[in-house]
Amino acid sequence: MAFDERFLSELRERNDITDVISEYVVLSKRQGRIRKGLCPFHNEKTPSFAVYEDTQSFYCFGCGVGGDVIGFIRNIENLDYLDAVKKLAQRAGLKMPEDQYDNSLHNRKKRIYEINKFAAKFFYDKLLEQENKFALEYYLKRGFTPSTIKHFGLGYAPNDWTQLKQFLNEHGFRNEEIYEADLVKKSEKNSKVNFYDNFRNRMMTPIIDVRGNVVGFGGRVLDDSKPKYVNTSDTLVYKKSHEVFALNFAKNANPENLIVCEGYMDVIALHQAGFTNAVACLGTALTVEQAKLIKRYVPEVVLSYDSDEAGQKATQRAIQIFSSAGLKVRVLKLSGGKDPDEIIKKYGAERFRMILEGASNEIEYSLIGIRGKYDVSTSDGKAAFLTEASAFLATLQNPIERDTYASKLAEETGAEKSSIMSYINQNVRKNTRKRFDKKIDDERRKSLGYTDRINTETKKNLRASRAEENLLTLLLRNPDFWGKIKDSICAEDFQTTFNKRVFKSLVSKIENGSAIEVSSFGEEFSLEEAGRISLLFNRGDMVSNTEQECFDCIRVLKEEQAKQTGDVSEMNDEEFAKLFNDLFKK
Ligand code: UTP
Ligand code: MN
Repeated sequence: MAFDERFLSELRERNDITDVISEYVVLSKRQGRIRKGLCPFHNEKTPSFAVYEDTQSFYCFGCGVGGDVIGFIRNIENLDYLDAVKKLAQRAGLKMPEDQYDNSLHNRKKRIYEINKFAAKFFYDKLLEQENKFALEYYLKRGFTPSTIKHFGLGYAPNDWTQLKQFLNEHGFRNEEIYEADLVKKSEKNSKVNFYDNFRNRMMTPIIDVRGNVVGFGGRVLDDSKPKYVNTSDTLVYKKSHEVFALNFAKNANPENLIVCEGYMDVIALHQAGFTNAVACLGTALTVEQAKLIKRYVPEVVLSYDSDEAGQKATQRAIQIFSSAGLKVRVLKLSGGKDPDEIIKKYGAERFRMILEGASNEIEYSLIGIRGKYDVSTSDGKAAFLTEASAFLATLQNPIERDTYASKLAEETGAEKSSIMSYINQNVRKNTRKRFDKKIDDERRKSLGYTDRINTETKKNLRASRAEENLLTLLLRNPDFWGKIKDSICAEDFQTTFNKRVFKSLVSKIENGSAIEVSSFGEEFSLEEAGRISLLFNRGDMVSNTEQECFDCIRVLKEEQAKQTGDVSEMNDEEFAKLFNDLFKK
């Protein structure tokens, strides 16, 4: 190295290793020669990281890393030697010796940063040129707003072999330097070297490191051709396995966690939708270095990879790497779209926020949506939320689901699960009833032209016969209800003769303790009648199977009985059809 020893020893003296390391690691009191702490370079529970004040060095007995204060800063800050020295010089208020390190490596890097900055500007300007307006349209069609395009410095590389090269030449950069930035490629023909633009006809995304330097580019095709992306290869300033896309923005919001996605486009879409803590790895599978870099900013990552098979595989890998780096890992269950970009476009940012809050299916989306409408910190708000949420749960067909989410609601709000369930069941009954009515009405309407041959009185007693049939179904399927309802109903409450017969027969079987099966009715009923009973038996989906519903039916029967006016029964078929149609149209 080109630094002279005097400078370096002063630098070390003024940056006591214990002080520097204490800024990153909690160290114990001195025990003998050493102070101990949890190693920041690997994941451990008992301290094996030792700092030696006398020799101004450190060593980890767990993972074997060690060195002096400069080495520590290089590793922990992910800096090269020069930048580590600079950082420590700054910390100690030391002036960097001018020109000492003007070796070509440093200069070459500086040139690459400059070239990249110019190139980014070039691509951005190209995007706004009239002749390339199809490129701008591409972004707009994808839903990116002008301010997003500006924020990320998105651009377009024209379909040309030399435009960028010439532009950079005009700004004083030599081809060899541009080549080092991987912005041009080289070809050799008859020992004559030819340079040509690396990115042609591509949508350009600049990659910016945490210090704000443009370190590389990702270039996407505008159509479905291959390869989809051309990316900057590793250069002196860019190691793609060490960089994390958009971390430069994401870190600024002081986030609790980072959302890690697969694609640039996902990240940009997420930032635009307000999730400014989204980042992505760059066209490689996640690396340990990237995990370490991320760990410097957050204790937790939220994986949001594509929902396809490749994405799920990558998720498994990422979980391992992030966990061994000591990060907490959460995995999002994306549903309804293949990646965050698509989900936000299809359903909006709100949906993604729900997924972040833990929702993984339609039911949870709906519940979160309902909760959002109320101020659940007040008891009124909570009650209103529970009312709507229970009514929603009642629309679910699967009783296990209803039960599961009722438990969740109870847990979440501190309400009694039993009262939530009873409210849900009330609504289930109502819904079942509505569904049943509709189905029956449909059936009846279809069959209005002819008579029900089994129960010839249905037409005259639409509402009552419906309640009768329901009650029969309930009893056929739940003979145990009889004990609870028998004081509230008798055969005389039935309006239609056929249903009355079935009821009487059924009740006597229940009271005798005989088996309630379709076949047990064979003796008293004709084959066709038994068929109807079988139908009643098997339409379990028409009822909610609750005792309460029995009482609902009984109530209807009593009401119908009370308003027996004879009007309806005296109508002829045509009059009745008209009445029915009028009712139905409402
Ligand atoms: P995707 O194919 O999901 O790309 O690859 P995307 O950025 O989300 O683009 P859209 O939404 O389909 O337009 C995920 C990431 O993998 C890398 C890129 O970093 C990309 O963002 N990749 C993909 C490549 O490097 N090269 C490729 O050919 C494809
Ligand atoms: Mn994608």
